[in-house]
Amino acid sequence: MATDFTEETATDAVVASLADTPDPRLREILTGVVRHLHELVREVGPTLDEWEQAIDYLTAVGQMCDDKRQEFILLSDVLGVSMLVETINGRRSDAATNSTVLGPFHVVESPARELGASIDLIGDGEPCVVTGRVVSVDGTPLPGAQLDVWQANDHGFYDVQQPDVQPLGNGRGLFTADSNGEFWFRTVLPSHYPIPTDGPVGKLLDNTTRHPYRPAHIHFIVGAEGHTPVTTHIFVSDSPYIETDAVFAVKKSLIKEFRRVDDRSEAEKYGVPSPFRLTNFDIVLEPA
Ligand code: BEZ
Ligand code: FE
Repeated sequence: MATDFTEETATDAVVASLADTPDPRLREILTGVVRHLHELVREVGPTLDEWEQAIDYLTAVGQMCDDKRQEFILLSDVLGVSMLVETINGRRSDAATNSTVLGPFHVVESPARELGASIDLIGDGEPCVVTGRVVSVDGTPLPGAQLDVWQANDHGFYDVQQPDVQPLGNGRGLFTADSNGEFWFRTVLPSHYPIPTDGPVGKLLDNTTRHPYRPAHIHFIVGAEGHTPVTTHIFVSDSPYIETDAVFAVKKSLIKEFRRVDDRSEAEKYGVPSPFRLTNFDIVLEPA
């Protein structure tokens, strides 16, 4: 005889229906989702209206997504889920560079550029030079390491947010470290910026009186043969919002001084006007 679906039997009934899922990891994940969702519903006790609102909200998040806008990543970011997943997966030796969120703006392939090239194709803003070296945890340099770099401009916008203002590829570059694992590039000092607030995630921030700002940063994905790649950023130490990132992505080890250099010979060495900002980011990768 069929068993009634009750508050008491609901979770076991759905979990049992998943028992024959051939992929064990999928079974584990779906079982966890069902258990936790049911627990949430029991704890909060949404009304039918509230549940409908929740469905409408997630529908709106999906409808906001296209090939240039990823509202689901944004939602995961502001709820701290992206950072939690990143932190769990980024458990590495203390020596390795910390990871942080990918964010929704890694949406186009960065153009390959020579070391020393500028990723700024516009010429506004405070000139900035980024130098560094990619090494393994034992200090061995990693020649040929690949560095995918992207950043917002000095007004706090990514190229894909301003297709009529910025050429695609502005603020982006794919670099290959030299035979010593060293790299450098020129850019402009990025600005802090609000995450997009014109969609459902913006509404959530509004309704919870949270600000939408991220401190100024430059994104990196760094990989080298035989090593686990790292997705990370460096943060400008004197940027507003360094203590209250809307997506919880700041880690102390990733906060860097972008030193103001007012020295013509230094500026000439890097081919930038004086004064300029200079920062260094040494990246340590763990063997795979
Ligand atoms: C970003 O840094 O590009 C970013 C990360 C999370 C949410 C929005 C933007
Ligand atoms: Fe960013």
